Amino acid sequence: MMVGASLHDDVEEILLDSQAVAGRVAELGAQIASDYAGRDPVLVSVLKGAMVFMADLMRAMDLPCSIDLMELSSYGSGTESTGQVRIIKDLSSPIYGRDVIVVEDIIDTGLTLNYLLRYLADKGPASIRIVCLLDKPARRLADIDIDYVGFTIPDRFVIGYGLDYAERYRNLPYVGVLKPSVYSGPPPEA
Ligand code: IMP
Ligand code: MG
Repeated sequence: MMVGASLHDDVEEILLDSQAVAGRVAELGAQIASDYAGRDPVLVSVLKGAMVFMADLMRAMDLPCSIDLMELSSYGSGTESTGQVRIIKDLSSPIYGRDVIVVEDIIDTGLTLNYLLRYLADKGPASIRIVCLLDKPARRLADIDIDYVGFTIPDRFVIGYGLDYAERYRNLPYVGVLKPSVYSGPPPEA
């Protein structure tokens, strides 16, 4: 990226503008708050991609809840899943007996989430449900029931609203498609 150039110049198309995202996040928050009325779930978010979604979703839920953060790595800096998952940051508090809601940014092959679900289930939570902002079913390899889906999207590499390409573009306020020239060209300067 050239110095002084706009981030938006690398976006081919805006898939979901910030209003569409905000509207859907409000609906999901209200739905979850109503489904979990009288309970006190823990939202487990997967860094870094889901942090923007988590931050908005938790404020759309009128419900006592706590949060925890994990960081997993499956992609390196490319655009294809390797199927290899590594825990970079673990839970801070036990989830034994808790109602866990896993908050994910995007589910593509499902391999990352599949690993995470088995890991969390081993810790004896009372229940586990999944909320993801974006579902990309075209390349699904793991059979996963997603309880709450924001949007189902086509098989395109998207960025923004927390999602990155090579750690960039997370701060775009919308979900967009990256220009293919960006990832077929030389890697971004560090
Ligand atoms: P999966 O294991 O293939 O389901 O990939 C899950 C993770 O890959 C997500 O949490 C994202 O971090 C990343 N990912 C998958 N698709 C995209 C995309 O289109 N844009 C940015 N990141 C993606
Ligand atoms: Mg990522």
